[in-house]
Amino acid sequence: MRPGLRSNPLRDPRDRRLPRVPEPCALVVFGVTGDLARKKLLPAIYDLAHRGLLPADFVLLGFARRDWEDGDFETLAKKAAKDHARTDWSEEVWDRLAGDIKFVAGSFDDDQAFDTLATTLDDLRNSHGIKGNAAFYLSIPPSMFPVVLRQMERTKMADNATSGGWRRVVVEKPFGHDLPSAKALNALVDEVFTAEDVFRIDHYLGKETVQNLMALRFANQLFEPVWNSNYVDSVQITMAEDVGIGGRAGFYDATGAGRDVLQNHLLQLLALTAMEEPVEFTAEAIRTEKLKVLRAITLPADRAAYAVRGQYQQGWLAGERVPAYRDEKDVPQDSKTETYAAVRLGIDTRRWAGVPFYLRTGKRLPRRVTEIAVLFKKAPHLPFSHTDTEELGHNQLVVRVQPDEGVTLKFGSKVPGSMMEVRDVSMDFLYGEAFTESSPEAYERLILDVMLGDATLFPRNEEVESSWRVIDPLEEFWAGQEPAAYRAGEWGPKAADEMLARDGRTWRRP
Ligand code: BG6
Repeated sequence: MRPGLRSNPLRDPRDRRLPRVPEPCALVVFGVTGDLARKKLLPAIYDLAHRGLLPADFVLLGFARRDWEDGDFETLAKKAAKDHARTDWSEEVWDRLAGDIKFVAGSFDDDQAFDTLATTLDDLRNSHGIKGNAAFYLSIPPSMFPVVLRQMERTKMADNATSGGWRRVVVEKPFGHDLPSAKALNALVDEVFTAEDVFRIDHYLGKETVQNLMALRFANQLFEPVWNSNYVDSVQITMAEDVGIGGRAGFYDATGAGRDVLQNHLLQLLALTAMEEPVEFTAEAIRTEKLKVLRAITLPADRAAYAVRGQYQQGWLAGERVPAYRDEKDVPQDSKTETYAAVRLGIDTRRWAGVPFYLRTGKRLPRRVTEIAVLFKKAPHLPFSHTDTEELGHNQLVVRVQPDEGVTLKFGSKVPGSMMEVRDVSMDFLYGEAFTESSPEAYERLILDVMLGDATLFPRNEEVESSWRVIDPLEEFWAGQEPAAYRAGEWGPKAADEMLARDGRTWRRP
């Protein structure tokens, strides 16, 4: 064991209460030169090293089609970590990690490269004491999953028995592009790896605020009694982004907002908001409750009225002119891909019957904000005059997933003065003020959980398939239709406002 890592003086104080350090292992990353690896995965590994949470015997092994030595990969990883890590930069931490960075060059159809990778993992057992344990992170285009999985099968790298330790695989979304493709992919992954060794990433589940939903609901007495159709009027889940599609036209134009985020992030937020209390805080129990919600989701019969999609036109954001989606680099001029989607869903259970769940997401909206707003019914009777309560809205509980992470409770309060005027006020809990610890990045948490073998925050394949059962009919309905236009910098197309107006409601302005 190399000294130092476990007793890192810079370790996050919170970790004293969470001394979960994984067993020795290698983390093999496919696609290390990609955006996700550079901006999220490699920085997260540095952050874990900084917090003393990597195993004492650890290897980061990169695989990509580059004519590189270990040192070249280390240079890339160092730059990525320096540019994007959450924790402070420390040469000392990096130097310790740098000695454990390896690289294998090759393309995915190159048998020899995979043979080398398998031999390298074998060698690392002795040279770095990884005990045959390895997690394979597929940070690669979905079209490449089958060939890489087959290579792992051929070389027996996925085989727990042969390895003498554990072998796990991390699969990035999108997990398929519809139900049949997701089923095919699930079947393939389950053929190569044992089901409990498959970790499907939905990085929203790694966000502290999302996990806090469970703490808020199930650690308190205050909210659960009113968390049902007797008291809840409606729920609004918003995931808004001010950014456009960056350099991802190839991926995004073939995907659209429905498949990119509604199918996964938003439906997972809905599931956590609506699920019953799990019998215990384990992966199996939580996944079971989420799955029950996903299975109970109902789609609007009138799709034209309650399933809206849009595409951004040229507009203004933060004082800058931004181009229309169709004028983004590599997007076809006649693209019908949606950059905005909003839908009204129902949940067919005793708890939620009749409560609409409005979900919306979009790119080039006025600002980046993700929130879950539970709007309560109005009081059945008010002993005040109508004019005194004109400015009183619905009581609301808003979980601010990001930014300004926290929770807001909105309720009516008397305006100071001689009248009994009642107006909405807000009570705020802000992570930044309540805690001195800063929140780990989602990927930090999730990579650590993979190494620990803790699947609590990873959707199981039935959840993925149930989510496609919700999205497929929407995609079918939308296919070929012209998306509604909205100007970049506005809160989506008019049709989305009309959708709520039809129900006598309005979208919250986050
Ligand atoms: C990804 C989507 O899953 O989530 C992107 O593919 C989106 O299109 C991103 O921009 C948003 O993640 P976050 O954590 O920045 O809200």
